[in-house]
Amino acid sequence: MKLREIFQKTIKLHPNIDKNDIKLALMHIYNIETYSDYILNLETSYRRTNKLFYIIKRLEKGEPIQYILGSAFFYNRNFKVRKGVLIPRPETEELVNLVIKETKEKSLNVLDIGTGSGVIAITIAEHTHHKVFASEISRKALKIAKENDVQNLVTFYEGDLLKPIISNNIKIDVIVANLPYIKLHEKVDSKVKDYEPKVALFMPKTNIYSRLFKQTKELSVGENGLTMYLEFGTDQGEELRALSREIFGNDVNVAIIKDMQDKERILVLRNLYAN
Ligand SMILES: C[S@@+](CC[C@H](N)C(=O)[O-])C[C@H]1O[C@@H](n2cnc3c(N)ncnc32)[C@H](O)[C@@H]1O
Repeated sequence: MKLREIFQKTIKLHPNIDKNDIKLALMHIYNIETYSDYILNLETSYRRTNKLFYIIKRLEKGEPIQYILGSAFFYNRNFKVRKGVLIPRPETEELVNLVIKETKEKSLNVLDIGTGSGVIAITIAEHTHHKVFASEISRKALKIAKENDVQNLVTFYEGDLLKPIISNNIKIDVIVANLPYIKLHEKVDSKVKDYEPKVALFMPKTNIYSRLFKQTKELSVGENGLTMYLEFGTDQGEELRALSREIFGNDVNVAIIKDMQDKERILVLRNLYAN
């Protein structure tokens, strides 16, 4: 049956399933790598298989397509994801893009904290000349990140925020992080809450940014000081600006950058501790 017909028949039979998830499932089953190849193959005939049926059954229960297929697309390539690791989000591609754009002419020591599947650290390592380090508290996530680092470009550490970097006395120029920023009382989609790891989603009771900022005092930094790029949750901009001033002083160089949805999303603190 032609790919177009398989797709149309499936969406008719399962109107509640997201059409994009069905496309991704078909691409996975028939080894089609990109959307443009998918479009080019719409009139190609493929053998029907039970695989689609099993994927649809799991989608109907609310499981995210990325966990079912075991992969998620990020910044032009697929990364392995399994339960125990956050599914990378498009906002994080914007964070990575900003860091690459602003730093790519230099050769720096960059640290990704809470690396999860490794998307931030690995993408930066693959697109720059930086030496990239990553820390992560979850052993399960760290294992997946290492599997994704196919070129062995990143040095990974298990531990709390900056602690393993401080204890190994590694000098850092840039920190990038997408820390768990959802507050415990916030409403979260059940697809996210039921499947993705709590440690990746929810901010612990003691403010994680405050702990991170305080830990930077022990960190050894490069000659231009430390620059931090931190992705944060909706409506946390002002709170983070105030926290930055409280911990680093009123003259701290702080900027807040909006994402493509025009929402405040990234906190940038430049040249902390520079002489
Ligand atoms: C929002 S997820 C981000 C994952 C990945 N960087 C991404 O953007 O897709 C936050 C990550 O931080 C890790 N994490 C939570 N608390 C941590 C801590 N205290 N120290 C290091 N990593 C932590 C979680 O296990 C999770 O992988």
